[in-house]
Amino acid sequence: MTTLDVGIAALRSSLSALRSAAARGYELYDRSSATLKGVMPKGLYARALLIIIAPMVVLQSVVAFMFMERHYNQVTQRLSAGVVQDIATLIEIDKAFPQDQALLRRVAQDKLGLVVDFLPVTELPPPGPKPFFSLVDQALSDEVRKQIGRPFWIDTVGRSALLEIRVKLDNTVMRVFAPRRAAYVSNSHIFLAWMVGTSLVLITVAVLFLRNQIRPILRLADAAESFGKGREAPNFRPRGAREVRRAAHAFLEMKARIERSIEQRTAMLAGVSHDLRTILTRFKLELALIGDSPEIDAMRKDIDEMSMMLEDYLAFARGDAGENAQPTDMAAALEELRSDAERNGHAATTAFHGLPVVTVKPAAFKRCLGNLISNAARHANTIAITGHRDHRNLTVTVDDDGPGIPLAMREEVFKPFLRLDDARNQDEGGTGLGLAIARDIARSHGGDISLGDSPLGGLRATVRVPV
Ligand SMILES: Nc1ncnc2c1ncn2[C@@H]1O[C@H](COP(=O)(O)OP(=O)(O)OP(=O)(O)O)[C@@H](O)[C@H]1O
Ligand SMILES: [Mg+2]
Repeated sequence: MTTLDVGIAALRSSLSALRSAAARGYELYDRSSATLKGVMPKGLYARALLIIIAPMVVLQSVVAFMFMERHYNQVTQRLSAGVVQDIATLIEIDKAFPQDQALLRRVAQDKLGLVVDFLPVTELPPPGPKPFFSLVDQALSDEVRKQIGRPFWIDTVGRSALLEIRVKLDNTVMRVFAPRRAAYVSNSHIFLAWMVGTSLVLITVAVLFLRNQIRPILRLADAAESFGKGREAPNFRPRGAREVRRAAHAFLEMKARIERSIEQRTAMLAGVSHDLRTILTRFKLELALIGDSPEIDAMRKDIDEMSMMLEDYLAFARGDAGENAQPTDMAAALEELRSDAERNGHAATTAFHGLPVVTVKPAAFKRCLGNLISNAARHANTIAITGHRDHRNLTVTVDDDGPGIPLAMREEVFKPFLRLDDARNQDEGGTGLGLAIARDIARSHGGDISLGDSPLGGLRATVRVPV
């Protein structure tokens, strides 16, 4: 092996190590971002609030911490050092002039604000309980140790406005009461209160403003949703921030374009149907004039069939244009469909669960269900219609005990003009538009139709539309 080979091998191994580290890092990133996604609120409002509040809280915590840690600590330490310095001076003077204790006490009281007493020498009391907020205690103790270096005892808790410091001297115990404010910055809580107060005010303002920013987006979402369900959103107008208004304008334009193209289609169909019908009527008249013969009869039947088919095509192409959605009693509608089926000699049952009043285009929706029921009636003897409404969907299933549709054909049969009946039964059968029309109507309500197996043994057609 040459050195080059060794170098290449080393490079290769370090590359693969790097690659695996990168993969692990990426995996970690993936997992943590998934966790974050799980924790993050889902709504825009909550997210925006979080984006505003989180930095504010972090900033304030850092500022508060720095203030407490640095400024506050330092000031307390300096003040404590000052007090202890005074005491140390008094001790020195006492040592030098032990007979002038009265003068010392007066000077300390007048000039330093310290109340000094000389107690008979005894053991110092045991250390008192440490206060929760022990900064002063700590600072004072440190200073006494450093500047005086004698046994001492400190009480910062006992009296609210005074600190008590006892120092054991050679033949006496010197007790000093110092005002608490001489050793301690006491207004720091005001700083914190101001900070928290201001941020509360700011958050309230942010909440109010944000709500106004989010509302137009919600309105746009509502309008788009009701358009998807085939309903009108009558008093929707673009509002809010420029971007939201732009989206709303784009939505309105799109809606207008769709409506225009539907209108065009309807107008064209009306023209076609009018023209063709006129010609068919003319045919019929001419046939009537010619008289009776088997050929003429056959032609007349053909023309009848043709006009029926024409009606079907037109109905399909027209769709549910023009009808408005309105609250409809679904339980009653199902009941009506059932009695129609029974009148035609089929055993039918219905059931409805949930609140029956649903907003749909009544005639179109009935035609949709009617198509499914007529299919069931054509292929089976027993029909079961079930409605179920929950807070999101209206679901209607039509079950029958007929031959059903093979799995592979269940999507195919929705295609216009596609009929399986050609093989099953030549004579009776429609144009093959029933399911296509039904699906069209379900989709124009924002829902869909699916086909499956029925517990009755035949086909189950399920219509689901959002409420
Ligand atoms: N309940 C059913 N059981 C068995 N086959 C069915 C059922 N419903 C529909 N089909 C099959 O699906 C095909 C398409 O149905 P579709 O309703 O679209 O047309 P059609 O019933 O033949 O004609 P039209 O409904 O326009 O009068 C039918 O020809 C039929 O073969
Ligand atoms: Mg049909």
